[in-house]
Amino acid sequence: MTIDTRILRSLRQAGAAGVAGTELSRGLGISRAAIWSHISDLRAVGYDIEASPHLGYRLVSAPDRLLADDLLSRLEGSPLIGRDIRVFRETLSTNEIMGKLARDEVAEGAVVFAESQTGGRGRLGRTWVSPAGRGLWFSVLLRPPMLPQEMTRLTVAAATSLARAINRQTGIRPEIKWPNDILIRGRKTAGILTEMQTEPDRIRHAILGIGVNVNLEPDDWPGELRRSATSLRIEAGEAIDRPALAVRILKELDGDYRKICGGGFAEIAAEWADQCSTLGQWVRVRTGGRVVRGRAESLDSDGALLVRNDHGQLDRIIGGDVTVEKSPERPGRFP
Ligand code: BTN
Repeated sequence: MTIDTRILRSLRQAGAAGVAGTELSRGLGISRAAIWSHISDLRAVGYDIEASPHLGYRLVSAPDRLLADDLLSRLEGSPLIGRDIRVFRETLSTNEIMGKLARDEVAEGAVVFAESQTGGRGRLGRTWVSPAGRGLWFSVLLRPPMLPQEMTRLTVAAATSLARAINRQTGIRPEIKWPNDILIRGRKTAGILTEMQTEPDRIRHAILGIGVNVNLEPDDWPGELRRSATSLRIEAGEAIDRPALAVRILKELDGDYRKICGGGFAEIAAEWADQCSTLGQWVRVRTGGRVVRGRAESLDSDGALLVRNDHGQLDRIIGGDVTVEKSPERPGRFP
């Protein structure tokens, strides 16, 4: 842990009471002059830190920037997800960077954030709009002890964590569209692109690429996306604290990932189903070159979507693009 991470953690723990320079110096094993120099550096990147001879140092506010030291300082305990955090100002795609790190055998739980992406990728070859300083664009490296066919569990868990974190941070309750689109009032707010390297009987690594439209304004999207996308800021009517949301998501992901690796997928699946707007609907699913139509009935034990097709048979879908069908003969939602 860096000195900046430890200073920020101490300041946060002290809260309004502040922490004396001597205490920081003793706790960190560096001189008071060195503490002062680190505080000056933190102020230079936007932290408002009050210094008074009586109260010592007090953190008044943090900048709306993603800084690895800051994010690490807010993750207490020993999380797996977020044990190693790297932040880039601009990159093509965080999934791309994580792919390289994965091949370099970086340990699972590493997270790469970028303030902006020039080639952000969405599912099914789409592009993902990732303007600077307005969203959370990041990738998480996992090495799950799962079979390749169980990988839908990961995306289901990630969508559940993401929806829960958004709800806890903003009060908004998003819907989940199978398998892992996060929508608010039917508009896309966040998405997950899972990329994997597999062997016949194991997942070598999985990269969860997560994009959250946090403080985007309508003008941030090109015309055709403006009607189908939204941001938390637009929905909440106020700016959302990005670093705080980032940490909340990492904590929820960490808890849920541990749960599914420990045999607790059913509990996550129940929460997912509760927030899923796809179940009970008539759907058209484009999956692996074919189209399945029917009623989205349930999720199986691996997280696959079970669709009752026109012939009354259950079709098991492990990946694809779902469109909800609404027609007079086929009402949107079943009782
Ligand atoms: C989707 O289409 O719903 C998935 C969107 C995933 C976007 C994220 S942003 C961070 C990571 N890097 C990428 O290039 N894509 C994912």
